[in-house]
Amino acid sequence: METQRLTSDASGIAQAADILARGGLVAFATETVYGLGADARAGTAVARVYAAKGRPSFNPLIVHVADLKMAQLYGIFDAQTLALTARFWPGPLSIVVPLAPGHGLSELVTAGLETVALRVPKHPVAQAVLTQFDGPVAAPSANPSGRISPTTPEHVLAGLAGKIDAVLNGGACRVGLESTIVGGIPLALLRQGGVSQERIEEITGPLAKAGSDITAPGQLVSHYAPRAALRLNATSAEPDEALLGFGPGPCDLNLSANEDLVEAAANLFAHLHTLDAQDKPIAVAPIPNTGLGRAINDRLKRAAAPR
Ligand code: TXA
Ligand code: MG
Repeated sequence: METQRLTSDASGIAQAADILARGGLVAFATETVYGLGADARAGTAVARVYAAKGRPSFNPLIVHVADLKMAQLYGIFDAQTLALTARFWPGPLSIVVPLAPGHGLSELVTAGLETVALRVPKHPVAQAVLTQFDGPVAAPSANPSGRISPTTPEHVLAGLAGKIDAVLNGGACRVGLESTIVGGIPLALLRQGGVSQERIEEITGPLAKAGSDITAPGQLVSHYAPRAALRLNATSAEPDEALLGFGPGPCDLNLSANEDLVEAAANLFAHLHTLDAQDKPIAVAPIPNTGLGRAINDRLKRAAAPR
């Protein structure tokens, strides 16, 4: 794939929105760092983000929207989180809130959690893309996993040229450091970033420490697992088990009948939820440990770990 360089004029913005609408990947400037954007409702597009970054695990991603009204289609805000949006949006603050009914986001974006991290970026190019696309955009930093976050289009291309559809030029990022993340009840600081803790606490009072309270969503990330027992690398199911398949052959649900790891990643959380609802142990077919398969196996191993 050749990565297009788009300029931030009306035609470049329209092309970027069009690529997103077709399930493609577009890196775009935000005021913090360049984000690698994909339609947050399209599991396959989100799976491609993980593949392009070469991430060895699935973390939930931040969903970018144009304004609070759009954010409320996906998340439920209370008085305290609303006060934060009034003070800091648009800007470098991401807020983790409970998912709204009928949100329509891919489960790969939330990593199967009941919460979502939402952010309204301030950068005019990010704003223009989000307004034109008129939908939620999942966007982690646009760098290969383990490398430094990009603050110019050149940084993005150095890491991801040939792996993404386009980079939309928005110049150098002003903040140069990812957004601050808060969430949970009581509200906790989940990641330090572009808005200082002190400024947030002027609105909220003292923030809880992430992980210090059972409801801090940062903890749920590592604890998410189906209720059912999981048996990995199963070549067939026992009579009482449901089989989560990969590749051709009979099974209860198939991650990908034609062994496509992007499709498998896109289906992973939704299929686990569906099988979990059947109240049977789950046998999981072997998944090759290459490319996105490593992230899939990482998640399955956590889900299968004794609790
Ligand atoms: O500045 C930024 O925030 C950049 C630019 C591109 O906007 N984006 C960014 O996104 O850093 P991302 O997707 O890499 O941030 C992911 C982090 C996760 O590692 C996790 O810490 C947190 O956001 N997160 C996302 N959803 C969460 C959830 N439901 N509960 C707890 N933490 C969550
Ligand atoms: Mg990053």
